[in-house]
Amino acid sequence: MDDRQNGYSQAFKQIAKAANSSSPLKRVLNSIAKSTAKAMKAAGCSILLLNPQKEHLNIIAAYGLSDLYLRKGALNAHRSLPDILEGKVTAIFDVSQDKRAQYPEAAGIEKISSILGVPLLQMGEVVGEVRVYTHEPCHFSHADKDFLSTVANIVAITLEKGELYQELKAGHEETVTERRKLAETPKLPSSSLRPSSFGHPSEEEFARLLDFYRIEWLYEPRSFPLAWQENRVVEMFTPDFYLPELDLYIELTTLKQSLITEKNRKLRRLKALYPELNIKLLNKKDYLRLLAKYGYGRLGGRKVAGIDRVLFSHTQIQRRTTALAKRISHNYVGRQLVLVGILKGVVCFMADLMQNISLPLAVDFMAISYYGGNAEPAVKITKDLDTSIAGLDVLMVEDIVDTGMTLNYVLNHLSSHNPASLQVCTLLDKRARRLIDVPLDYVGFEIPDEFVVGYGLDYHGEYRNLPFIGALAPELIEEEGGK
Ligand code: IMP
Repeated sequence: MDDRQNGYSQAFKQIAKAANSSSPLKRVLNSIAKSTAKAMKAAGCSILLLNPQKEHLNIIAAYGLSDLYLRKGALNAHRSLPDILEGKVTAIFDVSQDKRAQYPEAAGIEKISSILGVPLLQMGEVVGEVRVYTHEPCHFSHADKDFLSTVANIVAITLEKGELYQELKAGHEETVTERRKLAETPKLPSSSLRPSSFGHPSEEEFARLLDFYRIEWLYEPRSFPLAWQENRVVEMFTPDFYLPELDLYIELTTLKQSLITEKNRKLRRLKALYPELNIKLLNKKDYLRLLAKYGYGRLGGRKVAGIDRVLFSHTQIQRRTTALAKRISHNYVGRQLVLVGILKGVVCFMADLMQNISLPLAVDFMAISYYGGNAEPAVKITKDLDTSIAGLDVLMVEDIVDTGMTLNYVLNHLSSHNPASLQVCTLLDKRARRLIDVPLDYVGFEIPDEFVVGYGLDYHGEYRNLPFIGALAPELIEEEGGK
């Protein structure tokens, strides 16, 4: 590696010069990737940014890597060199044998043996990565790791500079930074992979349907080689969509039988070559069925009647609930935990939350009713707790806190029974409508001032069984004079 070290100080000069140039950011980053790969005598280098959810990595600049390799598929930050997410420098000696490589077969085709990856840090937070790839198996030295880490620091400063420049140029409260623009997964799909046009109208319709249900998708993110001639790929298959949450590729079919036959042939070959791949060939009816199977929508409909849009998909709710349960499990170790819920809206959330808390616990429910009519509404307990909570650590579990009046009443009631502690976990917080300032210790999602239904929440007794949380169409509320 000594000869590499000699090249490093030379490379720093070029990299610093590029970083300080007035060229467009993309060109600067590509130039840094090139200087880095050359200095390290590596086959290639890439600069990747995490999406805001820190789940996927998008390649924003690269050198020395084939288009096929760059389009090999969605890079899952938890499956591809996952230690980097923790801020660690990660070296893979043999990509074909190492479980930390997400696409070993694509690396094989590219003849990549070793990878070195370092985190890209901004204000101590991992926002991306810089990676180098070698053809020869390589034990990266300390000097290699130091060099690449310093390159990552320069890239981070370059990105900051790009942001600052953009802000100055825009001259107003432009908050969408160059970094975000490059890496963001806007609303749902990855912007870098959102196509400007689709190959077929049915694909566009399918993308809209996925957007409606807040299912993340990537359009044609990966091509799979199907046939080779003397090491050259002569046939490839590019599935239309990849749904990262379901780890599922989808190929849409048109109704033309000749095309279906050809696609079926390719699909059989694909499955034979890549048996671990989860891929489905769908026509329109099939994909509506598929969505229904995964709990999105009612069978046959493009939308659920009365729902304006989905705010949180089933997967998003599950992820958030698991994270909350993890924190609760950590905070309540060694204590006598009792979860208390108010029927009925909380049933879905309570069921999922308690299954993910890894501690012994008890569960109890209360029910309350509102007496309205023309008089002032007065909340009344119609079902009290079955067992005493005196001396126990009570966690009040709520579906939604709106004005805070219900929770305030229930908390007063519970504290009069002398629990050892009393805290609140709510899935949704409609903070904009708060009248009584109740303390919330664990919050799933903050939501805008909209009436939401699904996942236990109802509107006049309906919609509780939807697996997602959606905003009720405003016309419906006005029509019926609802809340
Ligand atoms: P609060 O007393 O105003 O905080 O209201 C809390 C209760 O009102 C919740 O437990 C729900 O039953 C109901 N609620 C408030 N907002 C919504 C909504 O957007 N959808 C469904 N129920 C709601």
